[in-house]
Order: sequence, then C-alpha cells, then structure tokens
Amino acid sequence: MASYCYQSVAASLLLLSQIASTSLAWSFTPTGQTVELDGLSYYIPPDVVSTISVSESLRKALDHAGGLLPLTVVNAGSFGYGEKDFSQDIASYISSDDVFSKGFLEAVYVQYSGVSGHKYPSFSTPKLSGNSSVGVVSTGFASNISSIPVGPYFVTSTGAVYEAWRLFSDVQGAFLETTIASKNGTFSVLPANVEGQSLAIAVPSRLYFTKTDEKPLAGVRLGIKDIYDIAGLRTSNGNRAWYHFYPPANKTALTVQRLIDAGAVIVGKMKTSQFANGEVATADWVDYHEPFNPRGDGYQDTSSSSSGPGAGAASYDWLDLTLGSDTGGSIRNPSQVQGLFGNRPTWGMVPLEGVMPMAPQLDTAGFLTRHPDIWIAASKVLYRDNVTLSHNYPSKIQTIGWPTTNSSEANGLLLSFLDKLTTFLNATTTSLNLTEQWMEAHPTNVTSSLTDLMNLTYPILIGQQTSSVRDPFYAEYSAANSGRLPFVNPVPLARWSWAASFPPSTIVDAIANKTTFGNWIESNIFTADNQTCSDSLGIYVGNSGTTNYRNAYRSPPGIPTGFSTSRISIFSGVPDFVLPIGQAAYVSNITQRTEYLPVSVDILAAKGCDGMIFGLVQDLVNAGVINATKAGYSGVTGEKILF
Ligand SMILES: *[C@@H]1O[C@H](CO)[C@@H](O)[C@H](O)[C@H]1NC(C)=O
Ligand SMILES: *[C@@H]1O[C@H](CO)[C@@H](O)[C@H](O)[C@H]1NC(C)=O
Ligand SMILES: *[C@@H]1O[C@H](CO)[C@@H](O)[C@H](O)[C@H]1NC(C)=O
Ligand SMILES: *[C@@H]1O[C@H](CO)[C@@H](O)[C@H](O)[C@H]1NC(C)=O
Ligand SMILES: *[C@@H]1O[C@H](CO)[C@@H](O)[C@H](O)[C@H]1NC(C)=O
Ligand SMILES: *[C@@H]1O[C@H](CO)[C@@H](O)[C@H](O)[C@H]1NC(C)=O
Ligand SMILES: *[C@@H]1O[C@H](CO)[C@@H](O)[C@H](O)[C@H]1NC(C)=O
Ligand SMILES: *[C@@H]1O[C@H](CO)[C@@H](O)[C@H](O)[C@H]1NC(C)=O
Ligand SMILES: *[C@@H]1O[C@H](CO)[C@@H](O)[C@H](O)[C@H]1NC(C)=O
Ligand SMILES: *[C@@H]1O[C@H](CO)[C@@H](O)[C@H](O)[C@H]1NC(C)=O
Ligand SMILES: *[C@@H]1O[C@H](CO)[C@@H](O)[C@H](O)[C@H]1NC(C)=O
Ligand SMILES: *[C@@H]1O[C@H](CO)[C@@H](O)[C@H](O)[C@H]1NC(C)=O
Repeated sequence: MASYCYQSVAASLLLLSQIASTSLAWSFTPTGQTVELDGLSYYIPPDVVSTISVSESLRKALDHAGGLLPLTVVNAGSFGYGEKDFSQDIASYISSDDVFSKGFLEAVYVQYSGVSGHKYPSFSTPKLSGNSSVGVVSTGFASNISSIPVGPYFVTSTGAVYEAWRLFSDVQGAFLETTIASKNGTFSVLPANVEGQSLAIAVPSRLYFTKTDEKPLAGVRLGIKDIYDIAGLRTSNGNRAWYHFYPPANKTALTVQRLIDAGAVIVGKMKTSQFANGEVATADWVDYHEPFNPRGDGYQDTSSSSSGPGAGAASYDWLDLTLGSDTGGSIRNPSQVQGLFGNRPTWGMVPLEGVMPMAPQLDTAGFLTRHPDIWIAASKVLYRDNVTLSHNYPSKIQTIGWPTTNSSEANGLLLSFLDKLTTFLNATTTSLNLTEQWMEAHPTNVTSSLTDLMNLTYPILIGQQTSSVRDPFYAEYSAANSGRLPFVNPVPLARWSWAASFPPSTIVDAIANKTTFGNWIESNIFTADNQTCSDSLGIYVGNSGTTNYRNAYRSPPGIPTGFSTSRISIFSGVPDFVLPIGQAAYVSNITQRTEYLPVSVDILAAKGCDGMIFGLVQDLVNAGVINATKAGYSGVTGEKILF
C-alpha cells in the first residue's frame, strides 16, 4: 500500500456534523479539513458528494486508517473493464490532472452501468504495472444520475465520499484572499494553509469537470482582481482600511456571475494597485506588497493595476485564467511584461456592475491568460452576444512605432512577426504616425494639436474617483471613526488631489475632447467594414523585453497626462489585444547572468471588432505564428521561478 499520513486540522468531521444537526444556541459551521497524502497537501470540503456502500474489506481498511481513506473513482462500462483499461485510466488521470496522485489508489471504487437488473461480474483486483499496488476495490452500480465523476476523493466509514482539492502556495504573492464556494451561491475564505509564506489556494481535480455548451468553462480555475464584488467576500480595492471598513459584498458582480454560471471555479481575489491606479514597486505599494513577476530574474515590476491577475497567470500552471480591468492599461501592461494574452475589450461591450469605477467613460473588463483557447471561450461568456468570432480579415496593417531593423533580439522577433502576419493576411503594411496624421487631417473645427486636445483627458476622467470613490469613503469612514481619515497610498492620493483642483466643468470638457478624438479615429483611422469588420489592423510594440527593476528608487508620483500610442484605445474605445510573441535575452544586474523577458505586440481594430481579432488569434495559433505561453521563469520554456 502507498504510504500516507493525515494531518487533521479540524477535529473529526463526522462527529462535528452530527453535533451541528442538533439544535443548540451557538452557531457551528464545518469548514472541511486538510490532509497530507504522500507529501502533497489536500483540502477536503465539508459537503458530501455521494454515499457508497462500504464493503467488509473497505470497512477494515477504513478502521485501520482511522475512518478516512483516499479513494479513486473509475467508470467501467457494462462489460469487460479489465486491468489494461484500469491502467490506461490511471495513466490518463496522472497526465491530465494535477490533483490526482497514486496515493488515491489506496481504495478504488469501480462504477458500472447498463441495465440495472443486470448482475455485473465482480471486478478482479486491478494491478498497476510497476511497483504501485492498489488497495481495496469496491464496485457499485451507477445510473446517469447517481454516478460520481471519476477522479480522486476521500471516503469515510459511513461511505460518505468527499472531493479532493489540492493546496498550492501563492509563493508570488498574487492573491489577497483565497476562496471556496458555499452551497448557497456565496463564497467563503479558504480555511487552510501550507508552506510557502503566503496564502494557500485550493483547486479541485480537473477530472470532475466536463465542458458542455451550457458549461463551456467547467472546471476553469479563475482568479478575480479585487475590485470585483463576490457575494460573501470583502472587496479591498487594494486598500486595507476599505477592506476592514465595509461588510462582505451581498451580490456578485455581473461579469463574475456569468463566469461562475458557465462553470468557472473562483479560487481567489487577486491584488490590484490601490483603487486600480497605476503603481510601481516598491514604494508606491504601501498597503500591500506588489506581487512578484515570475519572468527572468524575478525582480521586474509586474506593472499595474491588474498586478495580481498578471503575476498569478504567469506564475502558476494550476491557474487557468484571471479577470482584470483596463482603464489606462491595467490589463495590457501586466500582460505585456509577463508574457500573457490580455484584452482591453471595445469600451461598453462588457458590463461593469459590481466593479469599482475609475472613469466610467474608459473602464473595461477583460482577461489575462497563457491559454488562447480558454481566453476565447471565456470571452464568449463575458461578452455574450457582443462577440462573434469571424475569420474575414482586413488586408491593410498600420504599424505604429514599429522597428525597421534587426537592431536587437526583440526587434528581430517583432519584424519576423510582422512578416508572418503580413503573409498570413496577404496584407499591405503602412506606417502610421498619429500626430502627423492629425496635423494633416484633423476635424476642421478643432485647431489644437493632438497633445493639446488629449493632454489632460486621462487624469481628469479618472479624477471622477474623487466623487465616486473618495468622497463617500471618507465621509462614511470619518463618521464611524471620530472624524479620522483612512490611509490612502501616495499615487491615488496625488491624482485625487490634482483632479480636485479643477472645476467639475473640466470633466465635460474632457469628455468632449475624447469624443472628438474617438469620432476622428472611427472615421479616419480604424473604420468599420462590412466584410472584414475593420478596414485595417493597427499594431504596436507591447514590450520588447525591457527591464523595469522593482528595487529601483523612484521619484514621487506624478500626474498621468499626455497622449501616447497605448492611449489610442483608451480614448477612442477600440479593442486593444496583447499577444505574446517570444522572449529576449538581457543580462540581469541581480543574477549577473543572461535571463529572458517577454516580447509582445498589441493589436488594434475598429470598435466592435473583438470577434475578428479573436478569430485571427485562433488562426495564428493554428498556423504556429503565436503559441500558448508557459507559467514560470520563461513564457516560452516554462522552468522554475528564481527566488
Ligand atoms: C520499483 O521500485 C524500485 C526500488 O524502489 C525502483 O528502482 C524502480 O524504479 C521502481 N519501478 C517502477 C516502475 O516504478
Ligand atoms: C452561505 O453559506 C455560508 C457558508 O455556510 C454562510 O457563512 C453564509 O452565511 C450563507 N449565506 C447566506 C446568504 O445564506
Ligand atoms: C446589499 O449591500 C448594499 C450595499 O452595501 C446595500 O445597500 C443593500 O441594502 C444590501 N442588500 C441586502 C439584501 O442586504
Ligand atoms: C453589449 O453591449 C451593449 C452596448 O455597449 C451593452 O449595452 C449591453 O449590455 C452588452 N450586452 C451584454 C450581454 O453584456
Ligand atoms: C511622429 O511624428 C512626429 C512629428 O513629426 C515626431 O516627432 C514623432 O517622433 C513621430 N513618431 C513616431 C513614432 O515616429
Ligand atoms: C494578395 O493580394 C494581391 C493584391 O492585393 C492579389 O493580387 C493576390 O492574388 C493575393 N494573393 C493571395 C494569395 O491571396
Ligand atoms: C466639431 O464638430 C463635431 C461634428 O460636427 C462636433 O460633434 C464637435 O462637438 C465639434 N467640436 C468642437 C470642439 O467644436
Ligand atoms: C480640451 O481640448 C482643448 C484644445 O482643443 C484644450 O485647450 C483643453 O484643455 C482640453 N480640455 C481637457 C479637459 O482636456
Ligand atoms: C500637460 O499637462 C501638464 C499638467 O498641466 C503640463 O505640465 C504639461 O506641460 C502639459 N503638456 C503638454 C505637452 O501640453
Ligand atoms: C458593404 O459595403 C459596400 C460598400 O461600402 C456596399 O456597397 C454594400 O452594399 C455593403 N454590403 C452590405 C451587405 O451591407
Ligand atoms: C539594476 O539596474 C536598474 C536600472 O539601471 C537600477 O535601477 C537598479 O538599481 C539596479 N539594481 C541593482 C541590484 O543593481
Ligand atoms: C509555436 O510552436 C510551434 C510548435 O512547437 C513552433 O514550431 C513555433 O516556432 C512556435 N512559434 C513561436 C512564435 O514560438
């Protein structure tokens, strides 16, 4: 038998639940327990999945083990399930699931189906090839309704079967709170811990889930930026005072609910720079420490504000997808510097109920992930009927600030990507300089330069946080705390006080300037096309593998004025998608060795053409022009993160 040991955190679950069912004055809630199996940590949620009949031999083994045994559930068809089928099933569980391990073969439950009256021949004890032995085998008839999904479980002396969730450590500090779903549709904080100096995250076996049309995200492990409300959990917005001051949310944000309804498993709330304002490690991050970017030497800034979603998606292969938000680059920047796919959707296409606002005219919700297929499937759920994949592409590419020579490893990759894209689309490429284009063909009733028109737009619009976030927070906190003010990090504080020095009419002015720019883009730069959705694609450099060390001393926070290429999508509402294309070498001044950082590109198109870009991503992946990326040290080769 495989060796194992248990480390019970809660006392005996069975005994406790019996007590809980009697009516007593105090409130008592079983929250599951943790165990260790062959050196791996597991969380056992309190809910019984199913109850099986306990054979004599299983009862003996359970008595011997103290009442709880690891259990593997397999499905036999009606006939002839033998040793070979069993070995193949176990091999496939091991290769496809990071929760299953051979320790679960301590007891095996073989489910068979067919005509219920048909007597199934008793199952001869299956043996695995090699040294692994199999413990006790039980069999049981299962109809479609009563069958237990195959995979790893734990069973008690009464035959109660519980799920097995593997525990991992958030070694990169990407999470603020880790979670489990309650039966009533709300969430609770995960009551478990493991080695690693950080929070533990519990993930269910991948074998429990089957993706269907109704549940296209079944079993997808999802982390949520902590500006989205999730019923039962507190929201922090990256601020400690806020977290402790306000009660847990009583309603889940609409986007998050759509993902849950599609089968996604929420594993935790992830770090955001404070109130989703741009912050840089380390001095800006006063309330919480910035997560760690896993790439290269491990001491590069994660960028912000979806810092936790970016660092988590880039670090952990047990995490599939994260939900972020992008007002001024908050999804795109962490995606670019960490080798992830990330999208700023066309503004307005994804609802934001239940999400902390920055600037309602600019805020968007989207994903960060290593997996283009999951990205697309999850986006269909998020956008609903606002996205339809299409495969008719523009034959015009506008490059913005693109390199012209192979002067660096990154530039070589960028040129090669453009070459492949141009060939794939049979496209013509032109270089776009928006400043010059504006000078040549700006709206006749606007005389100012692009910079004059747009210089203040961003900081004025995000300054609306003073009335939507700051003022109610200060008033409510102050009233409850003898007139005191809560702590706020330097960056949001500087931006709020700058914005508060302008009259409210400035916001109207900023919106008018933004509208002027957006209309100009829509009719001159990225125009709608009834065949290809957009007349052209725009591409610009997302990241060329440049360093941004987190141990640098920096100047005090400034105001994010100005116009730049990354603000085209912000001000015009067009979609802006990040695609990782490779990595470039640099010599780290920390490790004193050659390390690698991601190279990525951004793709722009006309408003509403998100589905065309997703279609293109799908085709470029199929053509091998871009690939899914890996978690760890390198987005290309994976490997262990440096500490
Ligand atoms: C069986 O165990 C021996 C000794 O522990 C080990 O050397 C061998 O690799 C094992 N074989 C398999 C197939 O696991
Ligand atoms: C839902 O269940 C959790 C855990 O059992 C409990 O703490 C919470 O109060 C319940 N919420 C509601 C709204 O019933
Ligand atoms: C839910 O929370 C909101 C905001 O705190 C509050 O206004 C509302 O009354 C609460 N609803 C319920 C049903 O408790
Ligand atoms: C689709 O976009 C429109 C316009 O922005 C928005 O009003 C609507 O709520 C979105 N639909 C869904 C299902 O989210
Ligand atoms: C665009 O044109 C302006 C004005 O001629 C110039 O200053 C700027 O460097 C150009 N930008 C790029 C990316 O070439
Ligand atoms: C590519 O486009 C050119 C004109 O734009 C056309 O003549 C040519 O046939 C196209 N090639 C392919 C392979 O579609
Ligand atoms: C310029 O004209 C457009 C369209 O006629 C109008 O919508 C816009 O408000 C005008 N802008 C200014 C700054 O007057
Ligand atoms: C709007 O644009 C005008 C130039 O056309 C500029 O003078 C003004 O400062 C801008 N306002 C804001 C709030 O950006
Ligand atoms: C943009 O606005 C800031 C803040 O008012 C100002 O210091 C800066 O000179 C402006 N830049 C341009 C190019 O107008
Ligand atoms: C597509 O656009 C062309 C030219 O702009 C127009 O002639 C044609 O009728 C449009 N087709 C559809 C289906 O709208
Ligand atoms: C590494 O280089 C960066 C950028 O030049 C600098 O800010 C940082 O202090 C350096 N770090 C070390 C450990 O030398
Ligand atoms: C993607 O993967 C394929 C197959 O492994 C490989 O041939 C191709 O070079 C990769 N492309 C990139 C951009 O890494």
